[in-house]
Amino acid sequence: MRQVAILAGLCVALLALRPSCEAQPAAKDPILVGVMLPLSGSIADFGKSAHQGVLLAAEQINAAGGIKGAQIKLKVIDTRSDPAKVEAAAKKLINEDKVCAAIGDVASGHTLVAARLFKDAKLPLITPCSTNDTLTEGNPWLFRACFADKQQGEACAVFARQRLQKSKIAVLTERDSAYSKALAESFKKRAKELSGEIVAENNYGSGTNDWAPVVEALGDLSKLDLVFAPVYYSDAAMITQELRQQGYTGTILGGDGWDSDQIVKLGGKALDGAYWVGHFNAASDDAKEFVAAFRKKHDAQPDSLAALGYDALMMLKKAFMDAKTTTGKEVADALASLKEFKGATGLMSMDEKRVTKKSVFFFRAKGEAITFDRELKAEDVAKAK
Ligand code: PHE
Repeated sequence: MRQVAILAGLCVALLALRPSCEAQPAAKDPILVGVMLPLSGSIADFGKSAHQGVLLAAEQINAAGGIKGAQIKLKVIDTRSDPAKVEAAAKKLINEDKVCAAIGDVASGHTLVAARLFKDAKLPLITPCSTNDTLTEGNPWLFRACFADKQQGEACAVFARQRLQKSKIAVLTERDSAYSKALAESFKKRAKELSGEIVAENNYGSGTNDWAPVVEALGDLSKLDLVFAPVYYSDAAMITQELRQQGYTGTILGGDGWDSDQIVKLGGKALDGAYWVGHFNAASDDAKEFVAAFRKKHDAQPDSLAALGYDALMMLKKAFMDAKTTTGKEVADALASLKEFKGATGLMSMDEKRVTKKSVFFFRAKGEAITFDRELKAEDVAKAK
């Protein structure tokens, strides 16, 4: 009986082993990295781009000799823009595929689901683009290739006051979106510190398709010179059209939820002159090599999500190289101490709370085109008075 128990115990222990993640991997064992992204469903555009970026990074890492001789092998799961699928994907990657670390997901609400499971399994998870601040709070296993909403909201306030010189501000948010609410809060706080006035506010429920009352609730539009709408791009396009239809002539500003080529297609003429936050400036020096390699591999121009997916895997590679072993703890420690890491999206450094600090980019719609307007460095946002 006792022997059976010992044998069973041994089997469990063996099952729990992650052959390539326990100690220095033998060069013959690939290092397994999970990839959880929405490759189908409502936000598939974002997931597909990020996936293309991850594939390019894996190809480059392996062509250059891998991680100390071991190749990286990706285990990709489509999370279908559905948080329930994210949970199943995370469980599979952790328990069946036995990955050493993973990249994912896109929307903050989805990443939150995976982050809890990776925390319990003590394995690092890097999100390319989930900006919600709560993700890293109390979770030393979660990392971002992007800035967080506190920094983004503050950057928007500095941009609104100093670059656009606007002071009579309305804020429109999506009520049930943690992303929208948190970004609005950080913006409002910093805008008030910079003597901006929040004149009107309104929030709407998810699935809204009658935008007239949403805009009417802001009151007299002629009293405003800026509307800040930290929402996702399809709502943003509708809100912009409605604002213009109701005669609003002031400026419109959005957050990174607008950072999609779709925004100008959906918004059309109404979008002309609007500003928003982006993660990636394809014309910058930091982006050059990545853009050329991406075009060669995928025969397409990379967008923000492609660059962030690429950067996420490159951060992980750096951590694998810096860590003595490929165990979760050592890799997480290496990620937490990344400083001045040169990504396609710019220089990034982890602060003492494992929050990624980097530049926030602002873009503007000019007709059908999207033009780069300016870069706000983390220290400029902190210093602005
Ligand atoms: N920052 C968004 C979130 O946290 C996701 C996103 C990133 C959307 C980039 C568009 C572009 O939910």
